[in-house]
Amino acid sequence: MAGTDTGSTGAGGGRERPVVIIGASLGGAKAAEALREAGYRGGIVLIGEEHERPYERPPLSKGYLLGKTPREKIYVHPPQWYAEHDVTLRLGTAVAAIDPAGHTVTLADNGRVEYAKLLLTTGSVPRRLPVPGADQDGVLYLRRVEDSDRIKAALRPGARIAVIGAGWIGLEVAAAAREAGAEVTVLEALELPLLRVLGREVAQVFADLHREHGVDLRFGVKVAELTGGGGTVSGVKLADGTTVAADAVVVGIGIAPATGLAEAAGLEVDNGIRTDRHLRTSDPDVYAAGDVANAYHPLFDRHIRVEHWANALNQPQTAARALLGQPDAVYDRIPYFFTDQYDLGMEYVGYVEPDGYDQVVFRGDPATREFIAFWLSGGRVLAGMNVNVWDVTEPIRELVRSGRVVDVKELADPDVPLDAL
Ligand SMILES: Cc1cc2nc3c(=O)[nH]c(=O)nc-3n(C[C@H](O)[C@H](O)[C@H](O)COP(=O)(O)OP(=O)(O)OC[C@H]3O[C@@H](n4cnc5c(N)ncnc54)[C@H](O)[C@@H]3O)c2cc1C
Ligand SMILES: NC(=O)c1ccc[n+]([C@@H]2O[C@H](COP(=O)([O-])OP(=O)(O)OC[C@H]3O[C@@H](n4cnc5c(N)ncnc54)[C@H](O)[C@@H]3O)[C@@H](O)[C@H]2O)c1
Repeated sequence: MAGTDTGSTGAGGGRERPVVIIGASLGGAKAAEALREAGYRGGIVLIGEEHERPYERPPLSKGYLLGKTPREKIYVHPPQWYAEHDVTLRLGTAVAAIDPAGHTVTLADNGRVEYAKLLLTTGSVPRRLPVPGADQDGVLYLRRVEDSDRIKAALRPGARIAVIGAGWIGLEVAAAAREAGAEVTVLEALELPLLRVLGREVAQVFADLHREHGVDLRFGVKVAELTGGGGTVSGVKLADGTTVAADAVVVGIGIAPATGLAEAAGLEVDNGIRTDRHLRTSDPDVYAAGDVANAYHPLFDRHIRVEHWANALNQPQTAARALLGQPDAVYDRIPYFFTDQYDLGMEYVGYVEPDGYDQVVFRGDPATREFIAFWLSGGRVLAGMNVNVWDVTEPIRELVRSGRVVDVKELADPDVPLDAL
C-alpha cells in the first residue's frame, strides 16, 4: 500500500520535510539544480508524470525532429546527476492533489509526499482542436518527445502534411517537413503567421519565408472538420467547403497552462498561477515557475506569463532562492526567445502586447533576412528581434531595460552601435 514519503535525506539523518517540485521538465530540473547551487542540503523530491528524465523541448520541433540532434542531447542532466546531487526523481508519477494546509501532495497511486516548500513547474498542455474527426489516427500534437517521434515518422518525402496553426509549432514543423521532402499546407485562423506576437510588419517576413520554401500558406481559414476513413485522418475540411487532402495533420493551436492542481488547491489562478515578484503564489509555502507561472514583473509593473525556454531556464533560480528565504530573489529578467526555420535564425528580447506598440523600425532590409526589428512605443524600445545577425542581444536588452527615448534614425542606422543609442 502506498504510504507517506518525506523524501528527506537532510542533515542529521533527516525526517524534516523536503522541498517538493511538481513537473520534471526544464523548469523542475533547473530548480533542483538551483537549490543545490544555493547550498540547500535537505531533501529534494522531483515528481514528473512523463517517463523520460527531464529534457528540453526546443529540439523536438527542430534538430531532433530532423534527425540531426541525437536523443542523448535533449536531456537537461545526465542520468547519474540526480543521484549525485541527492535528488529523488520520481518519474511516471502524476500528482493528483495538493493539500496546502497539510503540506502534502497526493499522487495518482494514492501515495503521499510531505513538503516543507512546494514548487509548481507543471508547464502547459496543447490546446485540442474542437472539431469532428479530431480524434482520428494521424492527427498529431507536439509537446513530448514521443510526439516528435510520431511526427518524424510522418514526414516522408512526398507525404502530404496539413499543419493547423501558424504559430511557433506550426512554422517550425512546416520547415522540418519541407526539409524532409513533404508537401506542406499551413492553415491559420488569422491573416498572418505569428501575428499576435510579432505584429503585421514582421509577421510578413515569416509568411514570405515559408512561401519561398514551397509551403502552401492559407490565412483567415476556419477548420470545420477533419475527414477520414476507418479511424484514420485523410484531410481537413474548411468552413468554406474546401478540403485539403492530408496523410497526417499536425495541430499547433496554442497551449493552456497546467493549472488544474493549483486551482483545486485554492491557489490564485488567472491565466496561469499568479505569483509575486519572488515567484511565490497566494500560499506562502508554494512557488511557481516556467510556462505555468503568471508572475508579477517589476519592470513592466504587471503580471506576465511567458511560454518560452529561457523563462523556464531562469525563473527556477529565483524561485529556489526565494523559497530558501533569500529576500533579494526577485525575477526581473526581460523575456527572450529564439527560433530556427530553414536558414533563418532569430532571437527576440523584450515584451510587447499585441496592440502595445506604435512603430516598428528596421535596421537592415527585412527582404534580405539579415536585419534587426525594433518595436517602439512613444519612442522607447519595447523589444528587438535580430534575424541572422548575432551578438546583439545584450545591447538590445539594455535598450529595453533603460526605457529611454531613442533617435529613430540612429536606431535604423547599422553604422550607429546599439550601445551608443
Ligand atoms: C516542440 C516545442 C518546441 C519549442 N521550442 C522552443 C524554442 O525554440 N524556443 C523557446 O524559447 N521555447 C520553445 N518552446 C517552449 C519551451 O519548451 C517551454 O516554454 C518550456 O518547455 C517550459 O518548461 P516548463 O518546465 O515550464 O514546462 P513543461 O516543459 O511543460 O514541463 C512541465 C512538466 O510537468 C509535468 N506535469 C504536469 N502536471 C503534472 C502533474 N500533475 N504531476 C506530475 N507531473 C506533471 C508535465 O508532464 C511536464 O513534463 C518549445 C516548446 C515545444 C513543445
Ligand atoms: N521558437 C519558440 O519559441 C517555440 C517553438 C515551438 C513551440 N513554442 C511554444 O510552444 C507552445 C505551443 O506553440 P503553438 O505554435 O501551438 O502556439 P502559438 O500560440 O505560438 O500559435 C498558435 C497559432 O494557432 C492559431 N490558431 C489557433 N486556433 C486555430 C484554429 N482553430 N485554426 C487555425 N489556427 C488556429 C493562432 O492564431 C496562432 O497563430 C507555445 O507556448 C510556444 O511559445 C515556442
